Amino acid sequence: MNDPVYNFGAGPAMLPFPVMQQIRDEFLDFNNMGVSVIEISHRSREFEAVLARCDELVREVAALPDNYEILYTHGGAQMQFAAVPLNLLGLKPAHKAVYSETGNFSRLANMEAARYGKIVIASSGKDNNYDAIPPLNRDMIDDDASYAYITSNNTIYGTQYREYPDTGDIPLVIDSTSDIFCRQVDFSKTGVVFAGMQKNLGPAGTALTIVRKDLIGHAMERTPSLLDYEVYAKSHSLANTNNTFAIYTMSLVMQWLKDQGGTAAMEKINREKAAVLYSIIDSNDFYRGTAQKAHRSMMNVTFVCPNEELDALFIKEALANGLYALKGHRVVGGIRASIYNPMPLAGCRKLAEFMTEFARTKG
Ligand SMILES: Cc1ncc(COP(=O)(O)O)c(C=O)c1O
Repeated sequence: MNDPVYNFGAGPAMLPFPVMQQIRDEFLDFNNMGVSVIEISHRSREFEAVLARCDELVREVAALPDNYEILYTHGGAQMQFAAVPLNLLGLKPAHKAVYSETGNFSRLANMEAARYGKIVIASSGKDNNYDAIPPLNRDMIDDDASYAYITSNNTIYGTQYREYPDTGDIPLVIDSTSDIFCRQVDFSKTGVVFAGMQKNLGPAGTALTIVRKDLIGHAMERTPSLLDYEVYAKSHSLANTNNTFAIYTMSLVMQWLKDQGGTAAMEKINREKAAVLYSIIDSNDFYRGTAQKAHRSMMNVTFVCPNEELDALFIKEALANGLYALKGHRVVGGIRASIYNPMPLAGCRKLAEFMTEFARTKG
């Protein structure tokens, strides 16, 4: 076999190799049925078993308490930018929510929410080009707010909360699209956690949405049925034909995650992977990390070369060396290595070697 290509794309991102092999092997003949998993009914016994297994694995891997519902929601992560306010703003008469603005996706989320209620930006990293996570605590949240909202990992800017803010009695909503299950998290401190599948879970277009049960059943009257958490909860996410391929793939990814030792083992590997890259950035003058050190992400490592021409050359030469999709997001430029759960340590080591050599020859 040729040298592997390591995919550092931010999403859709690489999936674990054994999962891809399993999908390939059983694609034409699922469960000895002689048909593909994407050809069977979402209401068939066999697919119900896939769904139930995925739930079971999420509950186990996340140590999810019983008072949380697992939903597979349509429209990827950004559909939750509307679903969250539509479902939760009605929890209190003020129809108010508090957002922390830590990058592009939290800004899009608060703009969408403002269509449905009063949105307060309690803290923002905008003035520093989102290079750090601003503080958020209960004192900064009005008592009449229905929820507080954060983006736990900022995919574009390469920043990540070290730990979730304590919002006390106000339900905490987390967009965890780019760091779900990358580390151990106490879900009992959260109200809603959602994640578009395309980074740590599976294919794009569907989200895993974990909701505390008491927050279900409060959707505004005008909420479309397929955005209403209660409709999902009551139908086991099968009110209509859900994305069976996405859920099937996610169930395999969850099994892989469990086999790796779950989130505790994954966190250890992820820390090591990130350290391999940040240590190169910090050990020479050629590269500059774009996020403040204390706020750096374990999932998206963002940095620049001394000038834009060298950034472009870096990306081109990296690609020629089997290191794919290292271009930074179009709003910030530079270089971004996305190293979600499926990225092996060997991929980070190969990139680190390339970085060292590139700095030596071009510096
Ligand atoms: C943190 C975060 N939120 C939301 C999104 C949007 O996801 P989707 O394209 O599934 O709507 C992304 C995509 O990269 C993301 O990184």
